[in-house]
Amino acid sequence: MMKLSLATILLCLVGTAVAAEDDLPIPAEEFVYCTTCHGVQLMGNAILEAPRLSGMDAWYVEQQMQSFKMRWRGTHQSDLAGMDMQPMAAALTDRQISDAAKFVSTTRSASPTTTISGDVKKGKTIYNSCGVCHGQSGEGNEALRGPQLNVTDDWYLVTQLTNYMNGSRGNHPDDTYGRQMRGYAQILNDDDAIADVVSYISTLNDK
Ligand code: HEC
Ligand code: HEC
Repeated sequence: MMKLSLATILLCLVGTAVAAEDDLPIPAEEFVYCTTCHGVQLMGNAILEAPRLSGMDAWYVEQQMQSFKMRWRGTHQSDLAGMDMQPMAAALTDRQISDAAKFVSTTRSASPTTTISGDVKKGKTIYNSCGVCHGQSGEGNEALRGPQLNVTDDWYLVTQLTNYMNGSRGNHPDDTYGRQMRGYAQILNDDDAIADVVSYISTLNDK
């Protein structure tokens, strides 16, 4: 009896400790250096090929940082931009990655500017095959692990679709979601199709 209640008390204490830790404020100052590449308020920096991250869903940021850390992303010889990011994620503990993801999701900046000009009408038709996982307005679908597409830079979407198509992203055997997306990228059979669908996605950038 005595043992049981002690164990119960211990469990309660552990429970409290975990809850208290989760309630800690995000140590945002720890992650200010992310802005050296991703720009002020994480608004993106095209020169460094570091995308806008402001307001991105924490679950996706965490998933991608883990993907870099596990070397699923940012290790292919033709993925030079990914190679800049890979060591940044690899240097962090899982706890720090989770904190960094929360930090990213709380940042705000102006909507991304449009830099790609494709055929929006054709892009809309293509996007019919994408919305199920990425949301009709590009807002994402966490259940299917499809990220938001309406918060980031259009040039970055082009780079990533090209990476999936040429296999420099989504090629690791354990990267289930990356491999899935790589399969869908094959719908886009040329650079025009990529520009068209990305131009349509840009019209959804109304944040
Ligand atoms: C040395 C420059 C640099 C620093 C510092 C840096 N990043 Fe990055 N990051 C990049 C580049 C470049 C990319 C684009 C990689 C690609 O094209 O695959 C990227 C990509 C990402 C992505 C993927 C976004 C997506 O939509 O797929 C996330 C998430 C990210 N960075 C988060 C962070 C966080 C959080 C920090 C700080 C802890 C950070 N980065 C620090 C350069 C940097
Ligand atoms: C079956 C679900 C599914 C469909 C359909 C789908 N995607 Fe994805 N997409 C995903 C998942 C899951 C990821 C994240 C993969 C990873 O971790 O690399 C992703 C990632 C992406 C990314 C990278 C975003 C970033 O910030 O790094 C882009 C761009 C993208 N998809 C565009 C598209 C387009 C355009 C289409 C339609 C031609 C499409 N997707 C169809 C599930 C899907």
